[in-house]
Amino acid sequence: MTQPATETNQIKDRNNNVLSLAQVDAFQRNGYHFPLRALSTEQALAYRKRLETSESAVGGALRGSLRAKPHLLFTWANELIRLPKVIDAVEDILGPNLLAWSSSFFIKDAHDPSFVSWHQDSTYWGLSHPDVVTAWIALSVSEVENGAMRVIPGSHLKDQLPHQDTFAENNLLTRGQEVAVEVNTDDAVDIELQPGEFSLHHVRLVHGSDPNDSDQRRIGYAIRYIPTYVKQTVGPRDCATLVRGVDTYHHFDPEIVPKADMDPEAVAFHKRVTDESNQVLYRGTDKRNPK
Ligand code: NI
Repeated sequence: MTQPATETNQIKDRNNNVLSLAQVDAFQRNGYHFPLRALSTEQALAYRKRLETSESAVGGALRGSLRAKPHLLFTWANELIRLPKVIDAVEDILGPNLLAWSSSFFIKDAHDPSFVSWHQDSTYWGLSHPDVVTAWIALSVSEVENGAMRVIPGSHLKDQLPHQDTFAENNLLTRGQEVAVEVNTDDAVDIELQPGEFSLHHVRLVHGSDPNDSDQRRIGYAIRYIPTYVKQTVGPRDCATLVRGVDTYHHFDPEIVPKADMDPEAVAFHKRVTDESNQVLYRGTDKRNPK
């Protein structure tokens, strides 16, 4: 972490939330931690139902621009970025002042060929520090058979690696980006989760996932948390939602909370925000819109 370790340790002394110091150390060493529980099985099922109701309302899966920052469009997604158990765990790693910077769904239907190539999240996000933790919340079982996330332990310590864009059709990433160096998949760990459980991973951890070979739909919601001192360094002014503590830096504009699912003000705000963030995510290419 770029922020002095002593600051995190002092915070830990004051407020030991979810992770033990040994678990925080393991996260720093390995770049990930799982499983933790965010929701009961019943609560996870209820959120899955609300997601699937919204999918029906918009005429199908949350594709294209609807995949990015759905917490700006749907009340249930806005609740999911604020789950106390998730934020407690993130606070143990990143400290007490936290923004939810982004969120997106990683959904693979039964026998869906969608996959995620090996990559580091930090590659195109334009953020000033590698102090970004993703909480990946499972709203279904996520296991090897239906394309669970896989990670390479310790790979976050390698700094930023070169990536190449593929724009491969079934790749769930914006540019189909993949690390341009050899990945030793013998070392990969499968992040298997039950509904309501979540994993944490570091922004530079090399990770990916395979297609869904099963009859079960796989649903994950990835939420990206940053401390308030992080800045957007590329493109227009960015926005984020303060989910814990105070923001004395004001590097990000505050976000609007949807009053109802797809309310017109929320839809207009989401469109403006995702149009701007696409300029960052697709910079240097001729692409402007997600699949
Ligand atoms: Ni990723």
